[in-house]
Amino acid sequence: MTTLQASKRPILVGNWKMNGTGALAKEAIAKMHAGLKSFDKSVFAAICPPATLIGALAEHTDPEVMLLGAQDCVAEACGARTGDLNAELLSEAGARIVILGHSERRTIHGETDAMIRNKVASAWANGLTALVCVGESLDDRNSDRVGQVIEEQLDGSIPDMPPEAKTIIAYEPVWAIGTGLVPTPRMLSIVYDDIRRYLTGRFGPARSIPLLYGGSVSASNAAELMGKTSFDGLLVGKASLSADEFLGIAKACADARAATA
Ligand code: PGA
Repeated sequence: MTTLQASKRPILVGNWKMNGTGALAKEAIAKMHAGLKSFDKSVFAAICPPATLIGALAEHTDPEVMLLGAQDCVAEACGARTGDLNAELLSEAGARIVILGHSERRTIHGETDAMIRNKVASAWANGLTALVCVGESLDDRNSDRVGQVIEEQLDGSIPDMPPEAKTIIAYEPVWAIGTGLVPTPRMLSIVYDDIRRYLTGRFGPARSIPLLYGGSVSASNAAELMGKTSFDGLLVGKASLSADEFLGIAKACADARAATA
């Protein structure tokens, strides 16, 4: 069974957010799928489209080439919850991964760490990889609270992990999302060192939890981001809507990893 966790390949996850109408979805996925196939498994890729598209796109994607994922789930079991989607339904539709705790959900929907923690547990219980997002606001950064904020988010949003639980953590500074701004390599290495220290302290050194970076990633900055810092891949918003951009980022990931192998 293919799992993101076991992969030593760079991980690339596209978050389509609330986009994907008309012909965009099928055309883009077909082109990405063909392009990724030609990389011969050098990158582990997933696209998280709106949940309405997961089932249809799953029919056209080989999970060995790219996975499909969801952008959120509720923690509750199936039942009387009009409009909600849980991990069981998403998994049945074809999702293998679910983004949880994205800053847009934390701010627009008022999601708390405690809510995210329950969602992560339900994702694991349904066999999904939980891709948990953390990251500071500009205010947090300006008031020198980056390490503290991220540690609080990790502490609050990640439950104690059963051995089979699959988790990825994405560091997405809120001020970098959709702004064209990216952190400096020094800012990144401080944050990733902190996250690694936290994870090792809490879950032990043997536990493999890939770390991604997200926020204004594009085909033109992906190589530099992947080359200068020691994380395991990228979470891409806007640029993942274009197959050419996404494949450009995938190539940058594959090249960066080949250069350090
Ligand atoms: P962006 O979004 O790449 O458009 O900045 C990243 C994200 O929100 O995951």
